[in-house]
Amino acid sequence: MKVDSARFLADLHGLRQFGASGVGKGVVRPAFSEPDVAARRWLMDRMQAAGLSVHVDPVGSVWGLAEGPSLLLGSHSDSQPEGGWLDGALGVIAALEIARAAQEAGGPAVSVVSFQDEEGRFGVTTGSAIWGGVLPLETADALTDRDGVRFADARAAMADMAGEFVDPGRFTGFIEMHIEQGPWLDQAGETIGVVTDIVGIRDMRITLEGEQNHAGTTPMHLRRDAVQGMVEFATRLNAALAGVVTPETVWTIGHVNVHPNASSIVPGKVTFSMQWRDAETARLQEMEDIIRSLAEEVAGARGLDLSFGPMLGLEPVAMDDRLRGALAESAERQAAGRWREMPSGALHDATNVARHMPVAMLFVPSINGISHAFAEDTAEADLVTGLEVLAGAVARLTN
Ligand code: GLV
Ligand code: MN
Ligand code: MN
Repeated sequence: MKVDSARFLADLHGLRQFGASGVGKGVVRPAFSEPDVAARRWLMDRMQAAGLSVHVDPVGSVWGLAEGPSLLLGSHSDSQPEGGWLDGALGVIAALEIARAAQEAGGPAVSVVSFQDEEGRFGVTTGSAIWGGVLPLETADALTDRDGVRFADARAAMADMAGEFVDPGRFTGFIEMHIEQGPWLDQAGETIGVVTDIVGIRDMRITLEGEQNHAGTTPMHLRRDAVQGMVEFATRLNAALAGVVTPETVWTIGHVNVHPNASSIVPGKVTFSMQWRDAETARLQEMEDIIRSLAEEVAGARGLDLSFGPMLGLEPVAMDDRLRGALAESAERQAAGRWREMPSGALHDATNVARHMPVAMLFVPSINGISHAFAEDTAEADLVTGLEVLAGAVARLTN
């Protein structure tokens, strides 16, 4: 099997055209948006041309299947609302190139997947979470995006292409190549990260409701201002968590929806996202307890009604020793002295796929550690080395 790096790079840039933001190499291609569905159709054509049998599952994940038992490679091709061109796309296109090269060489059997909604327009790694049995389809269908669109309605955009869920039993393992999305490889001048573990996550929406009123006539002591409640919660949060977190623990309020969001109205309602991540399930739970009780305390003191949305979460996952070993051997061969083993602070579809089969991951550097932003990029030489390391590991595992 011989991969073609020029063809790989051309396809990577081909995928970038769908939802190109016009700012740097950035993309706007959230799950089920028009550019996402168009990109998935393009990908299906590329898979078919590579000799794979194309399949779409009921939640919009796109599969290129090799005959018989196969090794599965891939990632996701949806993006964040403001995303980079490589997050997910790299793993999908590297998978496509290796599967294509394998078809040309008459083996090994390599299949490709682009999971849907990894970036969590509706949930957390939605497509693979459903396939992995982590998230029941009926529960997912009731989830809404930040504008209130239901997952059930969004996935109808691809219903004309959809067949059954793919049987996980046809795959012998899964490897996901990805950009690091953090600073460590770039700062060290290294080229490859072989992932040891993926952190766990909790994510929910918190709503505070007070009383909407006139911003000029309502005295301060009579207000039940939802935004003031949220700001107090956010201000006290770091100190409240300080006793349980480690330097690696992270937490984020990344989305805020204020109602009615007008300068001259005391805000009656605010809904905000609350997400936290850590390598230990027990710590995730302790953080949840603190978050809930702080929200209750703030809401109680300010006369606000408090409600919590559905709790979404994934547990921390260790990579499979055998697959990880193949990646490490391949990295040592292609990039001796320029690779390391490292945990993943970002989430990945591999977490859910691990429910069905052994999984592993490899990283290439992110320039300046930037991702989930239009400025995300990776040196071309690193992209190609990553492809070669992955191809070398596939060869080792299928010999
Ligand atoms: C996935 O993109 C994540 O948020 O880690
Ligand atoms: Mn990703
Ligand atoms: Mn991402």
